[in-house]
Amino acid sequence: MTRGGVFLIRGGRRLEGRIAPGGAKNAILPIMAASVLTDETVSIENVPRLLDVEVFSEIVRELGGKVVRENGRVTIQGGTLRETTVPFELAQKIRASVLLMGPILARFGRVEVPVPGGCDIGDRPIDQHLKAFESMGAKVERVHGQWVLSCRKLKGARVDFDVRTVTGTENVLMAAVLAEGTTVITNAAMEPEVVDLARCLKEMGAAIEGEGTPVITVEGVNSLKGVSHTVLPDRIEAATLLLAGVITGGSVFVEGVRPELMEAVLDKVDQAGAVVTVNDGGVGAAATGRLKSVNVSTSPFPGFPTDVQAQFMACMCIADSVSTIEENIFENRFRHVAELRRLGADITVSGRVAVVRGVERLQGAPVTATDLRASAGLVLAGLVAEGETEVREIVHLDRGYESLEEKLNALGAEIMRVEGEKIENPA
Ligand code: EPU
Repeated sequence: MTRGGVFLIRGGRRLEGRIAPGGAKNAILPIMAASVLTDETVSIENVPRLLDVEVFSEIVRELGGKVVRENGRVTIQGGTLRETTVPFELAQKIRASVLLMGPILARFGRVEVPVPGGCDIGDRPIDQHLKAFESMGAKVERVHGQWVLSCRKLKGARVDFDVRTVTGTENVLMAAVLAEGTTVITNAAMEPEVVDLARCLKEMGAAIEGEGTPVITVEGVNSLKGVSHTVLPDRIEAATLLLAGVITGGSVFVEGVRPELMEAVLDKVDQAGAVVTVNDGGVGAAATGRLKSVNVSTSPFPGFPTDVQAQFMACMCIADSVSTIEENIFENRFRHVAELRRLGADITVSGRVAVVRGVERLQGAPVTATDLRASAGLVLAGLVAEGETEVREIVHLDRGYESLEEKLNALGAEIMRVEGEKIENPA
């Protein structure tokens, strides 16, 4: 499905209408990893076409598993899986490949995962994952650029995270379900995607309590069974679509998403002056004139998500005053700032704080996407910039959004994807 290419956005259209997000990428990836824990078939429903899902499927196939995609369903059979080494080339393409560490170790007593390099948004160490596996009895070695973990049988342990880590919590959860005895995870991540993974593991026969709170208790079981699991709607895609409406002075209702999972974002949208609607069917926001500048500070769930920081910053670029945006999760997640400036935004960055002085208008220009959420921020800015904005390296966007341009166009945007390089001066 590799699409990528360039978006040509004609700015100035007001977005209006109802739209539904796909399943949550950050729940799908750990659940795909969890499928390795059983010989039986795991079916995941509501899976959008995402590059990250494709790469993860490829990794599971390389390990010997069978992965089939049919419409919105991904079916995984881990029974034939024998290989314990996550292939280097594919692991380089997707950091979430580290999620296979826990399940492969739990099932085979051994796993080799390439040492992750830095990434577009920061260093992203995995020391907390390794420390936890060690406390569960695994031997952890670094051999020729790979983390090699081995154990006879994982043992339940107390895992006190120094840092609240989403994939770390998920990794330990997946290892603990087949470990001997009880594992207690403290300072656990409370993200809805962690809860969805726990829900899926429980459907597979795991004994887990406390998911969604900072303390999760897992009682190891001997084996897990197959399951058909429908993943929760993507709250980050939902927020992106909602903000696309808000930034264009429009009104968008996002169907199917659970409002209580989006409170921090909805609060800020409300403070920015948009009228927020919340009901059983989803969440909506309608702009009511120029946006007000509001301050945002990212933090783990239930705080304001780092994955919506770039999109919210795009909105603040045209707000009425000055806002500060503090990024507390990743140390290098402001790469969209330089690109937003090309569109006329007035932003200065000092350490983890960006000061955004709202301007009257943005102007279209060529910009380059640097990572998934930065791409989304640039697309939102392009929707409101005068004239044409060309967003390059859209391949980043395809990692986590299925055909975002089609969804935005359905709401009234004017975005064209030119696959491959943009053709200069087409005849
Ligand atoms: N950290 C450590 N040591 C560790 C693990 C994490 O120091 O062993 C630090 C990280 O460097 C970071 C903080 O802890 O500063 C939080 O990182 P976390 O581990 O929670 O992030 P992650 O699990 O690698 C997931 C999502 C990200 C999302 C973050 C934060 C997946 C596959 N990825 O990453 O999603 O931004 O949680 O919510 O679930 C995205 O979708 O665009 C994306 C980057």
